[in-house]
Amino acid sequence: MEGRRLTAALFFCFFSCLSVHAASDSYPPAQNVTWQSTNFKTILMWEPKPSADYSYTVEYFPVGGDKQRNPHCIRSSMVVCDLSSSLTDVNACYTADVLSEPPRGASSDLIEFPYTSSPRFCPYKDTNIGRPDFKLEVSENKKKTTLYVTDPLTAVFQDGRQLNIRDVFSDQLQYKVTYWRNKSTGKKVSFSKSNVVEVTGLDPGESYCFIIQAYIPSRSQDKQLGELSQPQCSTQDNPSIFEVYSVGVIASAIFLILLLIGLVVVVTVVCCKRRKNALKSGKDGVPVENVL
Ligand SMILES: *[C@@H]1O[C@H](CO)[C@@H](O)[C@H](O)[C@H]1NC(C)=O
Ligand SMILES: *[C@@H]1O[C@H](CO)[C@@H](O)[C@H](O)[C@H]1NC(C)=O
Repeated sequence: MEGRRLTAALFFCFFSCLSVHAASDSYPPAQNVTWQSTNFKTILMWEPKPSADYSYTVEYFPVGGDKQRNPHCIRSSMVVCDLSSSLTDVNACYTADVLSEPPRGASSDLIEFPYTSSPRFCPYKDTNIGRPDFKLEVSENKKKTTLYVTDPLTAVFQDGRQLNIRDVFSDQLQYKVTYWRNKSTGKKVSFSKSNVVEVTGLDPGESYCFIIQAYIPSRSQDKQLGELSQPQCSTQDNPSIFEVYSVGVIASAIFLILLLIGLVVVVTVVCCKRRKNALKSGKDGVPVENVL
């Protein structure tokens, strides 16, 4: 009796061990687990696409916290998982495990599935900042150029309101403005803590181009700058004569004018001389008796 039990137990173990082996063979662990995050929209990605024989489940947890699952990323055949709404504490640091599990509806004797862990991700420090938008305004007297920057929206909601990056980063957020004279390559840079940026020292009436990006100096160097905005150029007023016409045209015009003046001078001189001569000869020809 005792012997049969033991044999049965051994048998069971043998087969379950065998099935564990077979199962882990058919559930390959995920590879290349990475985060992609912009403005706190955060997506976990990995490879390869699963066959019909297995699926992936994502478990995420803040450092020192409990494991949680997102209902959209349980026994899924996708290789992405949107965790934007799951990573609720922007100041925490998270790790995610991608587990290789049986397909949905199938069962397995396995207690632990193979998994791959992601790198650590800290939304506040790591999320990329997307391109901001801005409005360009040149004052009436052309002396002041002002940029009105719109903060990009984030995927973070608080009390039903969608936060923008200023709400999240407050005074940590600055904007970097790069500008250059239209038709010139020399670039200048200025930083602003405010969303209203006054750029000074520009030549009035000239066209300048501007490009902006978020700048968070408290972050590590490679994460400080956000995506570049679309460039915008101010319009040029009263373009100077040298910009409208080429130097050749201007030189020819000046030459023509000089030629004309020369001609006029020559003609006048010649005429005057002739009149003088005519007068003189008239005087000489006047009889003496008439004068007296
Ligand atoms: C993981 O990334 C490496 C390097 O980019 C690539 O060679 C490899 O094919 C990737 N793995 C999978 C499963 O696609
Ligand atoms: C110069 O400014 C105009 C708008 O005034 C813009 O259309 C053009 O692309 C700018 N040129 C350069 C070289 O940036």
